[in-house]
Amino acid sequence: MNFELTETHHMIRDTARSFARERIAPDSIERDETETFPHAIVKEMGELGFMGMMVPEEWGGAGLDTVSYVLAMEEISKVDASCGVIMSVNNSLVCYGLNKYGTEDQKQRYLRDLASGKKLGAFALSEPEAGSDASKQRTTADRDGECYVLNGTKNWITNGSTADLIVVMAMTDKSKGVKGISTFIVEKETPGFTVGKKERKLGIRSSDTVSLQFQDCRIPAANRIMQEGEGFKFAMSTLEGGRIGIAAQALGIAQASLEASIEYSKQRKAFERPIAELQAIQFKIADMATNIEAARMLILKSAMLKDQDQPYGHIAAMAKLLTSKVAVDAALEAIQIHGGYGYVREYLVERYLRDAKITEIYEGTSEIQRIVISRALLK
Ligand code: CAA
Repeated sequence: MNFELTETHHMIRDTARSFARERIAPDSIERDETETFPHAIVKEMGELGFMGMMVPEEWGGAGLDTVSYVLAMEEISKVDASCGVIMSVNNSLVCYGLNKYGTEDQKQRYLRDLASGKKLGAFALSEPEAGSDASKQRTTADRDGECYVLNGTKNWITNGSTADLIVVMAMTDKSKGVKGISTFIVEKETPGFTVGKKERKLGIRSSDTVSLQFQDCRIPAANRIMQEGEGFKFAMSTLEGGRIGIAAQALGIAQASLEASIEYSKQRKAFERPIAELQAIQFKIADMATNIEAARMLILKSAMLKDQDQPYGHIAAMAKLLTSKVAVDAALEAIQIHGGYGYVREYLVERYLRDAKITEIYEGTSEIQRIVISRALLK
């Protein structure tokens, strides 16, 4: 496998890096403190092509590959992981699924605006009693003539209150279990659809996480993606790619932790010299950098396999499993290197830890990634 990046890849990474530094960084601490959604930034990310990176240009996307996507995700998340998850959900879980499985009509009506950043999407699979065990959907979608009527509750939905449309998994035939789940597109203005509780979170606080309610929410049958009963396959195959995005988000947080540690250890003096000259600190930095580089290679491998249309699900799961742990560990070490300063909000490293933790939970916990990996190896 050739890990060399092309000129386009370098250009994408540089563009994302300067955009993140110039536009995202300045108010990121305030947004985290006030739990404020970055509306203007998301709009600009759309204009730069970051909200539909892998969607063909004919559908309003940037027409780029998954490698470009992970490079941009790392740079954006390095500066603000909340912006990273907003971008990741729209790209991997909404645009990707619509582009791959949507009808021509659904693409005309929705994909162009989502991929160009004019609209924002959310993905609603999780429920109060269906998190890791995602097949236990209680939300129902009953056919009524040319419509489906949705009833139920979704939990922990990223972009849930800001999204213009939501891709929703629901049961169309309970008796068929996992094969009775279907996927629908719900527009936010649809009567019967309401946004519920806003979650107050440990990290990624400026992203939007809410519960959603559907009460006799009537949507056109033309808004069903794929056939009835294919909703779980839709969700699982979409999440395979999503996990690459979240791994790249975790990589950004880990890289930020490393860079902050290097910078701080060069200027902070203890025992009459910069702490960077102490072996205790040097070893921490060496370990952080080694783990980050290994994680980066695994992410690139999964992205390249996806771009080559080869099976990549369990490699993506490995990338997420490894990188999310690398991110948590790197953030913890960054705090340790910063000492007391690392524990207070004046320095960013405490936020890195808060932001890193979610990457071990959403889009499949680390335990779920181990299930995906071991099933692929033992089948
Ligand atoms: N692609 C296509 N089909 C797939 C698939 C995939 N990757 N994985 C499974 N399937 C199919 C299977 O082939 C099977 O169909 P057949 O019987 O026809 O073969 C069917 O789906 C059921 O599969 P399983 O028996 O493997 O299902 P399971 O109940 O054992 O669950 C699981 C497997 C891996 C544990 C799954 O439930 C899972 O991934 N859980 C985690 C859910 C998750 O990641 N949630 C994230 C929510 S979204 C989010 O977090 C977004 C955000 O906010 C950032």
